[in-house]
Amino acid sequence: MIQAKLTLPFELADEVSDALMELGALAVMLEDANADSEDEQPLFGEPGMEPESAAWGLNHVVALFRNRHEGEQILAELDPEALNGVPVEFTEVPQEDWVRLTQSQFDSIPISAKLWIVPSWHTPESADGRINLVLDPGLAFGTGSHPTTALCLRWLSEFPLQGQDVLDYGCGSGILGIAALKLGASEAVGVDIDPQAVESTAYNASNNGVNMPCGLPDFPLAKRQFPVVVANILSNPLKVLAPSLCEHVEAGGQLVLSGVLARQAEEVIAHYRTWIPLSVWAERDGWVCLHGQKAVL
Ligand SMILES: C[S@@+](CC[C@H](N)C(=O)[O-])C[C@H]1O[C@@H](n2cnc3c(N)ncnc32)[C@H](O)[C@@H]1O
Repeated sequence: MIQAKLTLPFELADEVSDALMELGALAVMLEDANADSEDEQPLFGEPGMEPESAAWGLNHVVALFRNRHEGEQILAELDPEALNGVPVEFTEVPQEDWVRLTQSQFDSIPISAKLWIVPSWHTPESADGRINLVLDPGLAFGTGSHPTTALCLRWLSEFPLQGQDVLDYGCGSGILGIAALKLGASEAVGVDIDPQAVESTAYNASNNGVNMPCGLPDFPLAKRQFPVVVANILSNPLKVLAPSLCEHVEAGGQLVLSGVLARQAEEVIAHYRTWIPLSVWAERDGWVCLHGQKAVL
């Protein structure tokens, strides 16, 4: 297999990648040509929310072909005016066992002295008191490797969850709710706007031998108050969701938020002040976990 890389401005990158797919490329991807430089442009977005920026200014269009001859033939069919002599860099792609390679990038992750996240293809180690959460990193977010997930997991493993019900809002893979159940919570309910996350949560819960009902935001089982509500989303959706998330917390209950960059913490805290006083519980790699307790009136 061979890959061809062209560097194009965003006005051309989409058009050229569509054309390459139509002409028979095996796969095409776009990368930020300024990645890992000062000009790197992060694109953040959540389902239903506009990303802060829609496209990178300068893109690497990377196309895969069976061999160089096929690649050259396909590239020759592109509109020469559009490409205007843009150089093409060919690189041989070594044959790999891609499934094994991807799997090898996910190792077991220690969250705390007692809690470990274990990919489903690993045999979980059993040691006294060790809690293994078996996870299949599928299409939904939440493998435990992201700092925001790890921060929420740490909070859950440090809080006495025995007998508590937990709402995992924006559950992704279900990792937080499932961890809460394994740590002793009585019930965990998941909510996500992405149907794939709902599916993934059901799958992961069953793999862990726990029952975690999960649904879209109008999920009837989530329409109540909980002693613990955890939401690892991004700061903008968290601000939009503030009244509803706080309403889900019972009097004296705990609210845990993450997905917030350290520089956004004050803004989010100020936004929630009307309902629940929050403070930074912990910070990791530029991300924070916010925590607050709802007043008992
Ligand atoms: C960063 S992921 C977190 C997943 C998992 N809870 C974790 O901690 O790893 C955020 C999740 O929130 C969901 N989400 C985003 N906006 C939402 C909203 N308005 N209501 C419910 N879920 C939302 C996304 O679909 C995504 O699965």
